[in-house]
Formats: sequence, structure tokens, C-alpha cells
Amino acid sequence: MIRVLLHGAGRMTRRVLANLAGNEKYQLSGLVTRNRPADLPGIEIHTALDEFERDVDLLIDFTLPGGTRNAARWCEKNDVALLTGTTGLSADDIAALNHAAVKVPVLWAPNLSKGMALMTSLVRQAARIMAGEATISISETHHRHKLDAPSGTALALAQAMNSGQSKVHGGNEHGQVDISSTREGEVIGEHTVNFSTPLECIEVKHKALDRDVFATGALLAGEWLVRQSAGYYTNSDWLDMTD
Ligand SMILES: NC(=O)c1ccc[n+]([C@@H]2O[C@H](COP(=O)([O-])OP(=O)(O)OC[C@H]3O[C@@H](n4cnc5c(N)ncnc54)[C@H](OP(=O)(O)O)[C@@H]3O)[C@@H](O)[C@H]2O)c1
Repeated sequence: MIRVLLHGAGRMTRRVLANLAGNEKYQLSGLVTRNRPADLPGIEIHTALDEFERDVDLLIDFTLPGGTRNAARWCEKNDVALLTGTTGLSADDIAALNHAAVKVPVLWAPNLSKGMALMTSLVRQAARIMAGEATISISETHHRHKLDAPSGTALALAQAMNSGQSKVHGGNEHGQVDISSTREGEVIGEHTVNFSTPLECIEVKHKALDRDVFATGALLAGEWLVRQSAGYYTNSDWLDMTD
């Protein structure tokens, strides 16, 4: 059984909690979040990671960048694998994850759905084939509570697009792409990448229908992560995607 500690108590962590119930691979050890929620009875809850003193195998983090930095430090200190889906991370936050990854397995994925991993691979391939011919744009829509824009997923798609193009043109992976972000209602997450030439148009679209797609992805990725040695991993690693 994987002893898991959850970090955060928001929309995503609550879906992870719901999916842990009845999952025989996992045992919930506790939850740490900055403000103690009153509506999660029967769970050991702390308001700081250092207050939690039992041994665990995995920490699943869905918080904010500050929370993820604390999680990286705590996991490194306590020899615990870290799976984080938090977005809006800065270069310094990613550096903190890489620092922890020298000692423990760390996986950061701005989108934990398998479908989005597949879409990212398709976008990389399309960018390689359409490089130089097509105008490429990315649009994303999320619920109005989301703090970061563009979404971490849109930035990852832009990176995939640039890496596909650079395979043809060489050079750096940080070309420009137009990303438009919309925040409205309770939309869980929609991403579209459009490749247009004067003669044809290709659209690759992913729509998350339920947050459980990310929560179940997190639990599957976590199962894989605890079996790995120290290192920094991405979706391509746990899904064994070579592209
Ligand atoms: N990778 C994926 O597949 C995926 C999917 C969906 C969302 N996300 C990302 O996951 C993150 C969380 O999303 P969400 O919708 O669950 O957000 P949310 O509902 O706002 O929940 C965030 C939770 O983290 C807590 N928190 C914030 N800063 C903290 C800190 N420094 N230490 C401890 N706890 C802290 C918050 O506490 P308070 O309530 O006290 O503020 C809240 O309980 C976001 O970055 C989002 O973009 C990723």
C-alpha cells in the first residue's frame, strides 16, 4: 500500500480524496493545507507540512506555487516522492523541484489527463510537419476561479509546438505562439491548438469533462512514481511516450 499525504484541500485535492476511497493501492495518511477545513471529518489534518511526523511514501500536491516550493523542500528532507499538478510555477519553483529531484523522485505535470498527454504529442508532431507553413494559435478556457493565465497546459502545448518546429528548423525551443485565455463560469478546462495555412486548417482540441480525469491520472502517476529512483519526471515518462 502506498502511504499518501495530500497537500491542499481545494477542488483538485477533494477529487483525489474521493478517488482514494476504495482504492486498494493507497492508504491515506493525512492532509496538510494552510487553513484547516471544517468539512473533512475523519482525516488527520495539519496546517504546515512540518507538523506531520509520520512516514509516508508519496505527497500529492495541488496547491499554489508557494505550497509547491514547501512541498519540494519537505519531500527532499523526508525522503518522500513528490507528485505535483500545481500550475503557475516560476523558473525558481521549477528549480526547487529539480533540487528535490536529486534526492527523491519528482513528477510535475500541469495536466494529468492521459488525453492531454496524447494531445501534446500530436501537437508536437503537427508542428514538425506544418513548420514554416502554418500560423499556429492556442486558445484555452477555464473556470473563473483559476489564478494563472495562460494555463500551465497551454504553456506546455506551446513548448511542445516549439520543440516540434525546432526539429525542422533547429535552434531554440522558445519561439512565439499566440495564446488566448478565457476565464468564465465553471469550465473545467478546454484547450485548442489551431494550425492554419491558406489551403487547410487543422484543430486539435481537448476538453476535460470532469476533474476526476486529473485526479485518477494523479493516482496512476503516483503508483508509477513511487517505484522510480530519484529524478525529475514528466507525463511522457509515466506514460512511456517516446515522442
Ligand atoms: N495538473 C493537473 O492535471 C491539474 C488539474 C487541475 C488543476 N490543476 C492545478 O492545481 C492547483 C490547485 O487547483 P485547485 O483547483 O484544487 O485549487 P484550489 O481549489 O484553489 O485549491 C488550492 C488549495 O491549496 C491550498 N493552498 C494554497 N497555498 C498553499 C500553501 N502555501 N500551503 C498549503 N496549502 C496551500 C489552498 O488553501 P486555502 O483554501 O486556504 O487557500 C487550497 O486548499 C492549481 O495550480 C491548478 O491550476 C492542475
